[in-house]
Amino acid sequence: MKQPSHYIIITIALFSTLFSSNTSAEFSKSFEGYQVFDTYCFICHGKDGKGNGPLASKIGTPPTDLTDDKILSKRTDKELKRIVEGSLPHGNATDSKSTTTNMPRWGVAISHVQIRSLVSYIRYMHRSKHSLPGNPVSGKKVYDNYCIQCHGAYGEGDGVLTRVYPMEPADHTNHKDMDKISNNQLRSIISKGGTGASLMPGWKNILTDKEINDSISYIRLIAAH
Ligand code: HEC
Ligand code: HEC
Repeated sequence: MKQPSHYIIITIALFSTLFSSNTSAEFSKSFEGYQVFDTYCFICHGKDGKGNGPLASKIGTPPTDLTDDKILSKRTDKELKRIVEGSLPHGNATDSKSTTTNMPRWGVAISHVQIRSLVSYIRYMHRSKHSLPGNPVSGKKVYDNYCIQCHGAYGEGDGVLTRVYPMEPADHTNHKDMDKISNNQLRSIISKGGTGASLMPGWKNILTDKEINDSISYIRLIAAH
């Protein structure tokens, strides 16, 4: 009887690894991309992608402003992926004499999944009219602690309490709908709650202004996918 239970454990382990790596890959690429950007890219491109990171003035070529529509709208996602990876020459990257003017070839250091996530986050910086008012990584913690009972673990509006109480939280992953709401409107409903019969609680006595801004930033990135 020993063998079968081993198989079962191995099978469960295998499935849970597959499942966990899948969810992190499919779950909001922009949120994943934000984290990778914040680790590897901000040092040259800056926190907001505008090209003003702490290392920017020390290298020969100014890092590209990744919010500049003139540059970014000319690139397809595939091209961006290849630029980040290092397989598509761009800008001064073809200048073989220079050693400190080029964008690093990230394909040797980070995974394909991370590069795809980076492209989603670059598109968010490029296209979104809503800035991130806080830190989305801290915002995820707030959301996971206080919001998912109703809004769902993935923000799709299907948390467990929606099966008990009559309510319909919006799908926070719906890009088109979320784009219509300003950061101020989000801030207002999160701090004051919904009106009338709405079950959306007000959080101003529980969360700090910073935590509310962090949760808004997280919601922005899950809306962007
Ligand atoms: C050491 C500094 C440095 C780091 C770190 C860095 N970059 Fe760059 N990046 C540059 C420079 C410099 C350019 C401009 C290259 C040129 O014009 O020759 C550039 C250009 C780019 C472009 C080209 C935009 C275009 O369409 O022309 C993209 C996209 C980009 N970087 C993404 C990233 C990403 C994503 C990361 C993190 C994984 C990153 N960069 C990290 C220096 C850096
Ligand atoms: C008890 C359930 C519940 C909890 C917990 C909850 N919400 Fe809501 N929320 C709702 C409902 C229901 C709505 C739908 C709008 C309405 O009825 O006014 C809503 C609406 C919203 C909206 C407006 C867009 C939309 O989804 O309709 C935002 C943004 C929002 N909630 C954020 C949060 C955040 C952030 C938290 C955690 C800090 C949170 N909510 C916690 C139930 C909840």
